[in-house]
Amino acid sequence: MSEKIKPSFKDARVRTKNPSLIQRNLFSLSESERMLGQGLFAMVITYGCQANERDTETILGILRAMGYQIVEDESMADLVLLNTCAIRQNAEDRAFGELGYLKQYKNKNKNMVIGLCGCMAQEESVVEKLEKSYPYVDLVFGTHNIHRLPQLLSSLYAKRKNVVEVYSSEGEVIEDLPAERKLKHKAWVNIMYGCDKFCTYCIVPLTRGKQRSRLVEDIVREVEELKESGCKEVTLLGQNVNAYGKDLNMEDGFSHLLEEVAKTGIPRVRFTTSHPWDFTLRTVDVKAAYDNIMPFLHLPVQSGDNDILKIMGRRYTVEQYKEIYDYLKKKVPNCAFSTDIIVGFPNETNEQFERTLDLYNYCKYDNAFTFIYSPRNGTPAARMEDVTPYEEKVQRLTRLNELVDKYARENMDAYLGRVVEVLVDGPSKKNSEIISGYTPENKLVNFKGSANTGDLVKVKITGCKTWYLEGEVVA
Ligand code: 5AD
Ligand code: SF4
Repeated sequence: MSEKIKPSFKDARVRTKNPSLIQRNLFSLSESERMLGQGLFAMVITYGCQANERDTETILGILRAMGYQIVEDESMADLVLLNTCAIRQNAEDRAFGELGYLKQYKNKNKNMVIGLCGCMAQEESVVEKLEKSYPYVDLVFGTHNIHRLPQLLSSLYAKRKNVVEVYSSEGEVIEDLPAERKLKHKAWVNIMYGCDKFCTYCIVPLTRGKQRSRLVEDIVREVEELKESGCKEVTLLGQNVNAYGKDLNMEDGFSHLLEEVAKTGIPRVRFTTSHPWDFTLRTVDVKAAYDNIMPFLHLPVQSGDNDILKIMGRRYTVEQYKEIYDYLKKKVPNCAFSTDIIVGFPNETNEQFERTLDLYNYCKYDNAFTFIYSPRNGTPAARMEDVTPYEEKVQRLTRLNELVDKYARENMDAYLGRVVEVLVDGPSKKNSEIISGYTPENKLVNFKGSANTGDLVKVKITGCKTWYLEGEVVA
């Protein structure tokens, strides 16, 4: 490889009407690439969302095909890849912190390769910072060219010069990449890549490119193969699953896809993440019609104030959001409901924040991921002047989190004495006599009894905590 290919936000912003290319034969390994990792140990550290976790499975699949052995200990590794997240500053800080930590190992093992990939690699400012302050990072590649990892490593080993290859194009759908799935009984299934929503605070449309949907038949085939192999639960993944198929000119493509996946008969189907903008009530109808679509919906609202929602570019109102909620609770009464909320969006007033609390009290969420707004370079919100002091934002987050805990606990308490179905993940990390798993509503259950990973067992709930239930297997 000759020139470094660095990221460009200008190119990453482009959205054309061209249909995305589906590439089926892009990944290949030469004889020498197949041998490249022989006798070497590799480790991948993953930050961020499920899309990144799924990408890590692909990266591990590729590394394994190249002969690497996978380890989970920096001190043993000849190759460490950081699969990074750019969504908030603290995710980036953690990755930079890890790079600093890795330096000691590189000092001991000069042949060690340190690489950075994922969403941070797609940012111009990050690549500049790496070149300036982290010259010992040997390899940088982005979210669009994971399939090129063998060639990038090959070039790196041959020339011993830093390799930077980040594409900022709209992206393609790349099928048939190897993957080493972390779990046998639960699997992530990508249904689409990228995002075209451009919420004004969000970096993702720049780091993951244009929305590109996979074909229904490719997704269904993957789910069927997983089911054949004993997998019990699939989670359909996309940055905005409700927009699935729009780029393929499908009308309400997600409801159709969801139904097709449910028809495979795999015991549990989940999906994430939803966006109220493209959410159709038909999706709720499909959810209600199939027992194997789990009664759980994660529907990020971000704010309970219409003016803030407008400036965020979310394109729905609180009233429309409540309509979805009301319909969901009517059609699937036992459905658990969770959300994402950002507090302290630029110039959010106290009254506007209070409206977020009002909405929270209305929906009584089972769970919520709450964040203080973090300005991301390259997004419209980062250019807004912001008069709200940071300490004020911290106080708002604390108040919101009190509500989060309160409703989480109240929703848990309703489970006392009930018998629930649990998909077993295995012995608990802290105590091997306790087994853990999740209910259809996505409640964590720690229970006593005997059960194997991947079993679906009935558990009687004997105790309720804020974030988990306790129970015993019933015969
Ligand atoms: N600052 C804080 N939180 C953010 N999120 C996305 N972008 C930002 C940002 N700039 C949150 C949203 C999103 C979740 C994945 O992360 O709530 O739903
Ligand atoms: Fe982080 Fe968003 Fe990238 Fe996922 S898509 S890794 S949340 S920046």
